Amino acid sequence: MKKILIKTHQHKYPVFIGKSIQSNLPRLIIEMNLFNNILFIVDSHVDHLYEKTLRTIMNSLKCKLNYYIVKSGERSKSSTELHRIYSYLLGKKYNRDTLIIAAGGGVVGDLAGYAAATFMRGVQLVHLPTTLLAMVDSSIGGKTGINFNKNKNIIGAFFQPEFVMADLEFLKTLPKSEIICGTGEIIKYAYLSNNDFFNYVNDNLNEILICNLTVLDKVISESVKIKSAVVKQDEKETGLRKILNLGHTFAHAYESELNFRIKHGEAVIAGLISALYLSNRLKILSKEKFDRFIKLPLKINLSAAFNKLNKENVYNRMFSDKKSRGGRIKFVLLADTGKILIDVDASKADIYYALENTLEHFT
Ligand SMILES: NC(=O)c1ccc[n+]([C@@H]2O[C@H](COP(=O)([O-])OP(=O)(O)OC[C@H]3O[C@@H](n4cnc5c(N)ncnc54)[C@H](O)[C@@H]3O)[C@@H](O)[C@H]2O)c1
Repeated sequence: MKKILIKTHQHKYPVFIGKSIQSNLPRLIIEMNLFNNILFIVDSHVDHLYEKTLRTIMNSLKCKLNYYIVKSGERSKSSTELHRIYSYLLGKKYNRDTLIIAAGGGVVGDLAGYAAATFMRGVQLVHLPTTLLAMVDSSIGGKTGINFNKNKNIIGAFFQPEFVMADLEFLKTLPKSEIICGTGEIIKYAYLSNNDFFNYVNDNLNEILICNLTVLDKVISESVKIKSAVVKQDEKETGLRKILNLGHTFAHAYESELNFRIKHGEAVIAGLISALYLSNRLKILSKEKFDRFIKLPLKINLSAAFNKLNKENVYNRMFSDKKSRGGRIKFVLLADTGKILIDVDASKADIYYALENTLEHFT
């Protein structure tokens, strides 16, 4: 089992990564002296698939232990579900000495994380990510939150866990579409990292997609290291952390323009393609590097829904979202692996160029 330490200003915690490591959960809770009044908040699919395993492992702990099942899906990241968790905690007489364990993808991690951040002004939290996206992204870095009035992640808190345990075994039951979602973020880290990691991801993309656990062990560990290095320097996204949004300005517009019929990770892959086109157009990224980098995201077949997009609508969507918040669009662009520029302005003609060229790949 690998251990990667994440350091923020106020907190230091380990991320454990490996195959079949769940059985270490009780030992770690004891060794790290965590509270033994535990609420396990579990995604309903994960509970369905792993109920017996998780309960057998946890039964070895002599502690107060309850399971709260959250219905799978983004709609559960709501104030209604959050209030149900508070009521459940109060009903079962949990106090400040509570440990919440979040077992699921980003939905359960964000929701249970925010419950932990706010119940009694904060109780302990452990993340047990079960999707590829949650292992490489959402369980790392301390962002927690819920959606509100159709606004995504609009209410939340930065709240760091006691530890994160990414057991690769969970990935064996993950649908292919969810593996693709996590792969979008891994491709992003390949650009943020260095040539070696880029080449590794480029050469092993197929192994990632077919869920080769040895390859995934390496790419998850590297991705966690990259994200943790960024979060260490800028926990609250005042500067450097913005590099993690590479491709995301375009991705959010694609997602909302398609009414969220595509998965976020797919939108990120398309968004990375657009960010590469824009970086090259603005002469930030050389033609030679562009040609090398663009091949990676283009290897993934994205949903047919992308061919319904048109550039005017996507462009208007990008601006209407921003204008409503009184801001301008600032792009995160790429000069080379590990060389990222933040807060870059672009003209309408430049953005149109990036959109047009991206959308051509889907027609
Ligand atoms: N906090 C952050 O920094 C951060 C970063 C990125 C994304 N997010 C959030 O994460 C959420 C998306 O997370 P996600 O992609 O993990 O989606 P998700 O949590 O909805 O999980 C995806 C699907 O996989 C199922 N599932 C989970 N584990 C499984 C397993 N082992 N086997 C089979 N099925 C399994 C779930 O039931 C669900 O149907 C979004 O709400 C997004 O806003 C947060």
